[in-house]
Amino acid sequence: MGDEGAEGNHPEGWPGQLWLEGRTLVHLLDEQTRPTHMPRGPAKRTGPGFLNPAMAPARTRSVLLLNDALEHNWLVRTDQSIRVLDALCATGVRIRRWRNEVSAPLQQRLRITANDLDQFALDWARASHSMHPPAQSIEHEPEDDRYGSVSEQAFNNGLDFRNKDARIAMIESGYQWIDLDPFGSPVQFLDAALQGLSRTGVLEITATDTAALTGSSASSQARRYGAKGIVDVYAHDDAVRLLLATVATTAARLDKSVTPLMALFDGHHVRISCLIKTSREKASGIGNMIGWRVREGDVPYRFVQHPTPEQVERASGPMWVGPLWDKEIAGRMTEEKVLEMCQPSAEELEEMKLQGLEWSEDDVEYSARELRRSVRYISDAADLMSREHLLLNLDSLPRWAGIGGAPKIEKLIASILQEGFSAARLPDLEPLLVTDAPFETVLKHVRKTSPSTK
Ligand SMILES: C[S@@+](CC[C@H](N)C(=O)[O-])C[C@H]1O[C@@H](n2cnc3c(N)ncnc32)[C@H](O)[C@@H]1O
Repeated sequence: MGDEGAEGNHPEGWPGQLWLEGRTLVHLLDEQTRPTHMPRGPAKRTGPGFLNPAMAPARTRSVLLLNDALEHNWLVRTDQSIRVLDALCATGVRIRRWRNEVSAPLQQRLRITANDLDQFALDWARASHSMHPPAQSIEHEPEDDRYGSVSEQAFNNGLDFRNKDARIAMIESGYQWIDLDPFGSPVQFLDAALQGLSRTGVLEITATDTAALTGSSASSQARRYGAKGIVDVYAHDDAVRLLLATVATTAARLDKSVTPLMALFDGHHVRISCLIKTSREKASGIGNMIGWRVREGDVPYRFVQHPTPEQVERASGPMWVGPLWDKEIAGRMTEEKVLEMCQPSAEELEEMKLQGLEWSEDDVEYSARELRRSVRYISDAADLMSREHLLLNLDSLPRWAGIGGAPKIEKLIASILQEGFSAARLPDLEPLLVTDAPFETVLKHVRKTSPSTK
């Protein structure tokens, strides 16, 4: 345990109760109910310092993505470091997970800054980091920001805390990685985030205003995102594509282009991760990536660039119509990798129990299951999601196929694969199928594999 007094006064209620997320010990406020593993949907907030356990899978994927950038050098060269900012870090769980769980040999190349406007949350983050410092101490020269103030990072064992409006924190330095996780919509932070990134950078965004993004709140959708939705089986995919289109058009105005690395609808929020590059030429190509989804009579939908006046009624958009994931990066998000990186060893768990963590055998099993669930289906779907594909909800297929019941999704996928096409399941609460087979071919396999046609 570190010296919890080193960072000044403890926030009220400290130390609360201990919880484990990934391989990182987390202090929860006493009034927050002990989370269940695999919580779904928005949790009941108990004020500043509240940790939303339903966001754990998104934080886990963020650890994997940052590690992947360093391990596979797709953002900076092997000898360079990455300057990362969690612009709305709250109690600092994400930044502490980055510091603890990104592989040890890569840690010295990480420069992490954590910002939040809420002093209480920030104090809680500092106290947690101080009490549970990273396994290896982080040493590097302090860095200056654009306005000459010196980073405290080197003195805070690898985390530089800032207490500013996120819009100011983001443009102070040229970050190569910004995480934006606000309450509700991220739109008010987008411009500053894009301007705060260096010429090549990663922007990760969480949006919990799903009513606006899906179109179930049509007026907020029109006002905030300038779009029109249809609340049907494509509402989740539309929400992801709408947020991407908003980021891409905002970026294009700043001569920046957007390449999605990973984009998911995860229960009660949308999470997108994009590579942003300053390039007038690429930014000018934005028009090819934006279009509308038109529901049709012969296939469930088609993407068009501009709907005709007759199509508008059954169209949602404008939205991103390009690829949603990066094949290589998403392909490496496997269950083996997540367990290797984010599951504590038996020795680490024993040490944490000595520090006061109450963790039963069931907790060990359920938390491993939760880690696997964070990336389930992703690597199998990586190829299809990085190119043109057809997205289908299993439950709507019997109607199209003119039969009584849907087949099991695994059987349907196996049958499509046998014919030489690609098919995979998507991570979603709904049974979603993604494939490059023509729609008629899919229907043939639905009829073939459905129990109701036996
Ligand atoms: C959803 S929480 C962030 C959760 C955190 N990323 C995590 O994974 O635990 C949103 C945070 O944004 C902070 N916040 C809201 N408006 C802000 C602003 N303008 N500048 C900086 N922080 C802000 C709030 O204090 C809150 O802690």
